Amino acid sequence: MTTTAETQVHKGAPEGEPLLAADDLYAGYLPGVDILNGCNLVLHPGELVGIIGPNGAGKSTLLKALFGLVPIRAGKVTLRGDEITNLRADKLVHRGVGFVPQTNNVFPSLTIEENMQMGIFQDAKRFGERFERIVDLFPTLGDRRKQRAGSLSGGERQMVAMARALMMDPKVLLLDEPSAGLSPVRQDETFIRTRKINKAGVSIVIVEQNARRALQICDRAYVLDQGANAYSGPGRELMNDPKVIELYLGTLATDVEAADAERKGQGPKHA
Ligand SMILES: Nc1ncnc2c1ncn2[C@@H]1O[C@H](COP(=O)(O)OP(=O)(O)O)[C@@H](O)[C@H]1O
Ligand SMILES: [Mg+2]
Repeated sequence: MTTTAETQVHKGAPEGEPLLAADDLYAGYLPGVDILNGCNLVLHPGELVGIIGPNGAGKSTLLKALFGLVPIRAGKVTLRGDEITNLRADKLVHRGVGFVPQTNNVFPSLTIEENMQMGIFQDAKRFGERFERIVDLFPTLGDRRKQRAGSLSGGERQMVAMARALMMDPKVLLLDEPSAGLSPVRQDETFIRTRKINKAGVSIVIVEQNARRALQICDRAYVLDQGANAYSGPGRELMNDPKVIELYLGTLATDVEAADAERKGQGPKHA
């Protein structure tokens, strides 16, 4: 049974055992300096969960901590109920967790195909079968398999990074700002691709700087601020929460809301 406090922290989360859960995490890079200050997150099977929040809030740190790349000083991470706190990244990959970092996420001097081989070097004999499967999702990568990743556009590199993380057939995928630095059209493609991967059965935690867009595509989202949960709930609910709009979405969301209202013939809202 969930307590009222838990229900608030994970507002709108489904019942049942989460696939991935972070409970009251404290973590940081330097001794004595915590970047995460009691951070909570749950991801249920099949969910697409967003993390938004201002720059420096600790979003990337949270993903890195979940993936064993930043030491967790207190709190607990579980995968299907088994504790995985501070487990090394390579062990996590074996247990079905994949991670796409925000930057430096491809090997520029290697070809697309070689990058994807790097994603499954722990189980190299499955390369052919997995490659064909992923290329079904991203046909461009198959057509250009011999091209070096360094010669690709930002959007294409992001695709390679995602494809590489998918090679080991993860059940949980952690994505750090996949749309950063891309044009609006390429950003949209990234969001569509993320949803497609999610629909194919991969549960996803996505960190996004494009907060409004993230709230549109996610089942639920968490707002992080100074390493702790500020708000959480279904994406649509957060998008319409005046406090969230004021503090984290800025005028952009209000403008969009006004435009929506106008389209529906209600005229713009005035405070
Ligand atoms: N490698 C690092 N060493 C020390 N401090 C870091 C490192 N990476 C990030 N930080 C600090 O951690 C805080 C949170 O950063 P980050 O998790 O990258 O935020 P976000 O992804 O939300 O923008 C920032 O104050 C940042 O300066
Ligand atoms: Mg970040």
